Amino acid sequence: MSVRIKKAVFPVAGLGTRFLPATKTVPKEMLPIIDRPLIQYAVDEAIEAGCDTLIFITNRYKHAVADYFDKAYELEQKLERAGKTEQLEQIRHVLPKGVRAVFVTQTEALGLGHAVLCAKPIVGDEPFAVLLPDDLIWNRGDGALKQMADLNEASGASVIAVEDVPHEKTGSYGIVATDKFDGRKGHITQIVEKPKPEDAPSDLAVVGRYVLSPKIFELLESTGTGAGGEIQLTDAIAQLLTSEQVDAFRFEGTRFDCGTHLGLVEATVRFALENPKLAGPAREVMQKMLAE
Ligand code: UTP
Repeated sequence: MSVRIKKAVFPVAGLGTRFLPATKTVPKEMLPIIDRPLIQYAVDEAIEAGCDTLIFITNRYKHAVADYFDKAYELEQKLERAGKTEQLEQIRHVLPKGVRAVFVTQTEALGLGHAVLCAKPIVGDEPFAVLLPDDLIWNRGDGALKQMADLNEASGASVIAVEDVPHEKTGSYGIVATDKFDGRKGHITQIVEKPKPEDAPSDLAVVGRYVLSPKIFELLESTGTGAGGEIQLTDAIAQLLTSEQVDAFRFEGTRFDCGTHLGLVEATVRFALENPKLAGPAREVMQKMLAE
C-alpha cells in the first residue's frame, strides 16, 4: 500500500497555437464545453480522485485561469439580490471547500516536462497527479484519475493512462511498449515521444493523465531538450522506468482530444446529449442539419 495522492498538477502554460485566433486572448483551457471551461472538467476529475491541492502551471497570458478560480464578489452579490440561487451555487462551487489552488508561473514555454518540474516546490516528496485539461475524459462510472489513483495506492507504482490509436497516428503521441497486460494494466518497458509509425514499439498512446513518483523531479532536472526542442516529460519517464515500476493503464472512459477542432466538436456533442435539458433539442437540431 502506498499513500493516496493529494496533489494534482495542471500544466496550462502552452501556447495553444491550434486554436488561434481564439487563443490570442482566451486560454485554450478556458474554451467551454456547453457551459463549463475545459479546466473545470479536469479539476472536478482531480477532486473526485481525492486531490485537495491543485497546482496550476501558468504564464503571464493566462490570468483568466486564476480569475476563474477566484471569488467573484460583485457577481455573487448581484445574483444573490436577484434571487438567482442556482447560478449562485454554480459559481460558488467552482472549487469546493477544503480544496486549495496554487498558481506557479512557467516563465518560458520550455515544454511539458519543464512545466511539471515547476511544481516541484509545492509537490515535495510524494506521488502526485498530472492532468492535461485538453484531454477531456468522460465516463459514467469513476473518473479516469480516480481509477488510476486507486491503482497507485494499491501498488505504489507510477501509472500512465494509455489508449490504442491508429498505427499511422503514433507520431502525435508518446508511445509505450509493455509486458503482457493483466486486465487493464501492463508494466511499461519502453516509452518514446512521437515516433514515426515505422519506429513505434506499439500503437499504445499516452494520454493526458499521469500518477507519478516524486523521483520524476530529479530526473526532469537533468533531462535535456528532446522532440520539438522541448523538455519532454516522456524522456524523464523513460529514465524513471530504469529504476521504478511504471504501469500503463487502459482507463475506462472516452477521451476527447479537445486540443483539436474535431475533438472539441465531439466533446460538445457528447455533453449536449448527456445534458437532460439539452439532449432532446440538441438531437433535433443535429438530425435536421444532417438531413440538409
Ligand atoms: P500541447 O502540446 O498541447 O501544446 O501541450 P499547447 O501549446 O497547449 O497547444 P498547441 O499544440 O500549440 O495548440 C500539452 C500540455 O502541456 C502544457 C500545455 O498547456 C498543455 O496542457 N505545456 C506545454 C505547458 O504547460 N508548458 C509548456 O512549455 C508546454
